[in-house]
Amino acid sequence: MRKQLRTILNSGLIGIGIAFMFMLTIEGFPSSLITFLTYTGFGLTAGVLIATAFIVTRGFFSRFPVYNACLMLRIGHAYLVCTVTFFLAALPVTALPWSFFPSRLVAFQTSLGVGIISVLIGLAFEYLDIKDERLRLEQKNKELAVLEERNRIARELHDSVSQSLFGISLNLKTLGLIHETQPERAKVLIAQLKEMVEEAQREMRLMIYELQPVILQEKGFFEALETLCTRFQTCYGLEIIFRFQGDETKVDQQTQLVLYRVLQEALHNIVKHAQATKAQVILTVPDTGMLRAKIEDNGVGFDVSKPISTGQFGLAGMEKRITEVNGAFSINSVPGKGTTITVRVPLSPPSGPSC
Ligand SMILES: Nc1ncnc2c1ncn2[C@@H]1O[C@H](COP(=O)(O)OP(=O)(O)OP(=O)(O)O)[C@@H](O)[C@H]1O
Ligand SMILES: [Mg+2]
Repeated sequence: MRKQLRTILNSGLIGIGIAFMFMLTIEGFPSSLITFLTYTGFGLTAGVLIATAFIVTRGFFSRFPVYNACLMLRIGHAYLVCTVTFFLAALPVTALPWSFFPSRLVAFQTSLGVGIISVLIGLAFEYLDIKDERLRLEQKNKELAVLEERNRIARELHDSVSQSLFGISLNLKTLGLIHETQPERAKVLIAQLKEMVEEAQREMRLMIYELQPVILQEKGFFEALETLCTRFQTCYGLEIIFRFQGDETKVDQQTQLVLYRVLQEALHNIVKHAQATKAQVILTVPDTGMLRAKIEDNGVGFDVSKPISTGQFGLAGMEKRITEVNGAFSINSVPGKGTTITVRVPLSPPSGPSC
């Protein structure tokens, strides 16, 4: 409503401007105050009337999608409304003895000209509206990008540092219970905690490093995955059979980072929840089509139909990451029989010669 009032007021001012143009053309510099005021009043009235008539009729037509989609329809509408409204405003003026419209024909001809001027002014407003809308959309896109980036960093933090902090807090709880009764065991635990804190620090540094996925570029995709599996084997005594097949250069960098993070979280979950003795990681990169990955354990499994509680980000994060690269993520688990995660991601087509 405020915007419409502003448009009506602006149109009144434009009307005064156009009326002055007529005044200078027809009369030269105004000889009396009355002439000056008449032109001013007429310009203002015509401008306000035209804008009001246009806004009211546009409100009616804009309910029809075809009207909003077709610029020619909007121009035709603006021309008709403005010409007719100006003519109706000019008619009573033709009857005045000192009228600047000597006849109705002149008023009609002037109305035709005013219609064209109104269409040009309308187009200028339309252009400004489009510009405003574009700026608004750009701003919204920027906000979305910031939000997306925040979520991404949250996932990175979850998948790296928060895993170590979880282990540290578990050990601290145990330490609180035993430090008086079993001082020798407590000493061993403190040494372990020190190692874990150092590990968390290393992970934090690694995470900052990996936010730009340099590690994968430097080590190569398969070698980075292999290092991850080996680390879990040595740190947690989990036996991992891993097999990576195909040409790793066919996997784009974003997908490489996504799969690295998915494997990392899946292995963490195995260590944390599965009580498994064995795990198997298979990754196949075909020449074309879909990359396939499978992470399997022989642990206790869980009920996948149970809703995930708030504060659990791992599985949801994995799925989100895979969806971001247009892939499919599925998890299959039978209580007592282990868990299998299956991932399929389309390989990006080879880039052809540019023309
Ligand atoms: N390999 C697995 N074996 C057994 N249970 C699993 C396995 N993976 C996940 N789960 C179950 O699914 C739940 C959700 O896992 P998710 O990774 O989303 O959260 P979390 O590991 O509990 O916490 P977070 O990953 O946020 O630190 C786990 O609490 C666990 O019960
Ligand atoms: Mg988890």
